[in-house]
Amino acid sequence: MNTQLRQVGIVGTGMHVPPETVTNADLEKIVDTSDEWIRTRTGIRERRRAMDPEMATSHMCVLAAQQALDDAGIVAEEVELVIVATVTPDYLFPATACLVQDRLGARRAAAFDLEAGCTGFIYGMAVGRQFIATGTYDTVLVIGADMLSRVTNWEDRSTCVLFGDGAGAVVLRPVPEGYGVLSMVLGSDGGGGKHLFQPAGGSLMPASRETVDKKLHTIHMSGNDVFKFAVRVMDNATMQALEQCGLSKEDVDFLVPHQANLRIVDAARKRLELPSDKVCVNLDRYGNMSSASIPVALHETLKEGRIHKGDVVLLVAFGTGLTWGAGVLKWWK
Ligand code: ACO
Repeated sequence: MNTQLRQVGIVGTGMHVPPETVTNADLEKIVDTSDEWIRTRTGIRERRRAMDPEMATSHMCVLAAQQALDDAGIVAEEVELVIVATVTPDYLFPATACLVQDRLGARRAAAFDLEAGCTGFIYGMAVGRQFIATGTYDTVLVIGADMLSRVTNWEDRSTCVLFGDGAGAVVLRPVPEGYGVLSMVLGSDGGGGKHLFQPAGGSLMPASRETVDKKLHTIHMSGNDVFKFAVRVMDNATMQALEQCGLSKEDVDFLVPHQANLRIVDAARKRLELPSDKVCVNLDRYGNMSSASIPVALHETLKEGRIHKGDVVLLVAFGTGLTWGAGVLKWWK
């Protein structure tokens, strides 16, 4: 038996966001809020919202995934596993990943969804990495996608200003020794699940007239509790991931954090003592796209030519569950 694990890296990226933009001024017209409050408390100026009722999470996934395959220079038939990280699947079942596998034409691929909220993409990367490291597969597509606008209570100012729709995708493949994923850290604290959840629609509280009337199929969040949790776990996960691969904060060239709130991103940046041009920030344009936020930020930063071969890139996220995760990559390509 071959016990040698292979190094795994990102060899292609892609993204999709819906064309429709919702500005803070638009939100001022529907809830008691202000552009000033949203910008100073969160850093968000606008977000995307899929208005086309025919568009669902899987459609955004396919567009992002096709771009990632093109970027990697491979065709769908080469993909052996499709992982979609989402909390807003098209259906409770079948898995959105299966819809994507079919529409992409990834005929050889296994497919499943994974749910870890905004940490979903990092969880997906960690799972995909294992399949390649152990030699089970050579090519894995990991997609983070969410259409939170479909589970948003547009009368609740404490949540409706925060989220946006989008999808990001990466292709994972073996890369030369010394490159690719150097470490990954995952964590969870289910005791905090009550701070961010969608009460109805599952087996505990199936859909009924009452659950719809009470808007229990929408996001319920205790923002302050999530905020405090986020700052703490981003810091711990970052340091653990660096320690695991024998690096320190001085070695980090680029930080790609989950895009929930500029104050949370800034706290992570300051802890690493990084200048602001070494941190990906796009929440001003997209809001919090949940599991899509990291792959979209990564894709845009790569396309801007700001990450180079050999750079040490740190990914870190937190999300519903509660969950957290971080990964250190030495950039390959
Ligand atoms: N406009 C105006 N006022 C508002 C708004 C709004 N949109 N929303 C809340 N307020 C009010 C509140 O009612 C409160 O008023 P009060 O003092 O009279 O009661 C006041 O503003 C302060 O509210 P706080 O909740 O204390 O504001 P805070 O500074 O904590 O910011 C925020 C709130 C932005 C939600 C912040 O807590 C946050 O970003 N938390 C993290 C949320 C998060 O990241 N969630 C996603 C997790 S990832 C996932 O898995 C999807």
